[in-house]
Amino acid sequence: MQIVFGIDFGTTNSALSVYRDGTVEVIAVDGCERAGELMRSVLYFSEDDEILVGNEAIRQYVGEGAAGRFMQSIKTFLPNTSFESTEIFGKRYAIDDLVAIILRKIKNRGEAHVGSLVESVVLGRPVVFSTDAAKDAVAEQRLEKAARKAGFKNIWFQYEPVAAALAFESMLQAGQERTVFIGDFGGGTSDFSVIRVKGGAFARSDRRNDVLSLGGVYVAGDKFDSQIMWDKVARHFGRYARYKTMGKDEWVNVPRSIIYTLCQWHRIPLLRARATREHIRVIKGTTDDRQAIEHLENIISDNFGFFLFQAIEKAKCDLSELEQTLIRFTERDLSISENIGKGEFETINRENFLQIADCVDEVVAGSGLKPSQIDTVFLTGGTSRIPHIQELFAERFGRDKLENRDAFTSVVHGLGSSVPLFV
Ligand SMILES: Nc1ncnc2c1ncn2[C@@H]1O[C@H](COP(=O)(O)OP(=O)(O)OP(=O)(O)O)[C@@H](O)[C@H]1O
Ligand SMILES: [Mg+2]
Repeated sequence: MQIVFGIDFGTTNSALSVYRDGTVEVIAVDGCERAGELMRSVLYFSEDDEILVGNEAIRQYVGEGAAGRFMQSIKTFLPNTSFESTEIFGKRYAIDDLVAIILRKIKNRGEAHVGSLVESVVLGRPVVFSTDAAKDAVAEQRLEKAARKAGFKNIWFQYEPVAAALAFESMLQAGQERTVFIGDFGGGTSDFSVIRVKGGAFARSDRRNDVLSLGGVYVAGDKFDSQIMWDKVARHFGRYARYKTMGKDEWVNVPRSIIYTLCQWHRIPLLRARATREHIRVIKGTTDDRQAIEHLENIISDNFGFFLFQAIEKAKCDLSELEQTLIRFTERDLSISENIGKGEFETINRENFLQIADCVDEVVAGSGLKPSQIDTVFLTGGTSRIPHIQELFAERFGRDKLENRDAFTSVVHGLGSSVPLFV
């Protein structure tokens, strides 16, 4: 009996499925999150050399008051060729080492569940890791290397939206045929596919001819969070602060690059570079908003970006249900309470929604079909819960074609269903 794992290593969440004897089961990988089904794709390195993953990492990070090093959105570094490795408490970790730690943890949990060693895996990958083909290839190679380091010997890749399509297919009745637009909106990427599916067709040998079009864009949940930070929160950290340059008697703004980095929370640790900290110290000397610059120093040294972004993310998720909400956050003498409305969220993210819409239109055009020839639009991934995303599809295809299901597990289920295509 062959057992193969399907692993969806996501920007925000990871999940595991087990393929065994022609059936696929999604199994819990972490203690608490969403009934344990998902594992947050995060790592925590404590000062005393302990490495924790998922919920344990979050708990320890919160408990230790952020003394160690916390990392999230690691997947977004995969195509970044200028980021090879990082030093954590005197040890160097290549990007694939970091990913391997997460994959190994998932592998161990899965093996404990099935009671045997499992060395084969189907890994999901976004359609577009990067629009630069060389970087895209690097990302996949790194992911493969990570899987090898985690102990897998047979490794296959499946596009995430194709996996979601296979999950959708498994819900159809035998013989039922559909042409489906799949939209998988995650934390890092939004991935699309137009694909023909047929109920009861599980394990058909080759699906290449059924995939009519594929595409993706690097705009998803994290970008929406960053945009909220930029427009609603960054002023507390000096976005509008000015200071006097040395020598010249001129008032200038805090460098945009600093504020921009601040808005991508997983990059905030990069601001610890000595030159940047020195620059901020100089700014503090003459600035017209000393308090904001102090907050900027504090977020860098105390590393509370994670909690701030949790507050931002929570507000974003609230707006999927409510007309307005508050972004609330306190830390030492910093107290943020910003009102944000659904309309405002949509306005500040106009560019992001446009990029998504353009990509959707391209993928539809690439399939050679008109929207009216597409039977169903299947939306999945956490970010698909944003009402405006659903409206984009309702406008193009009509609301009655939309199906929303299993936001967090359809990809991993489909990775398991992909196994017979490879083995
Ligand atoms: N109710 C909600 N409204 C809006 N966004 C949400 C909601 N619930 C979750 N999200 C967002 O969904 C994202 C996580 O979704 P998901 O788990 O599908 O991503 P992922 O698979 O980890 O990422 P990727 O597929 O890009 O690698 C996060 O950005 C999260 O903020
Ligand atoms: Mg995903």
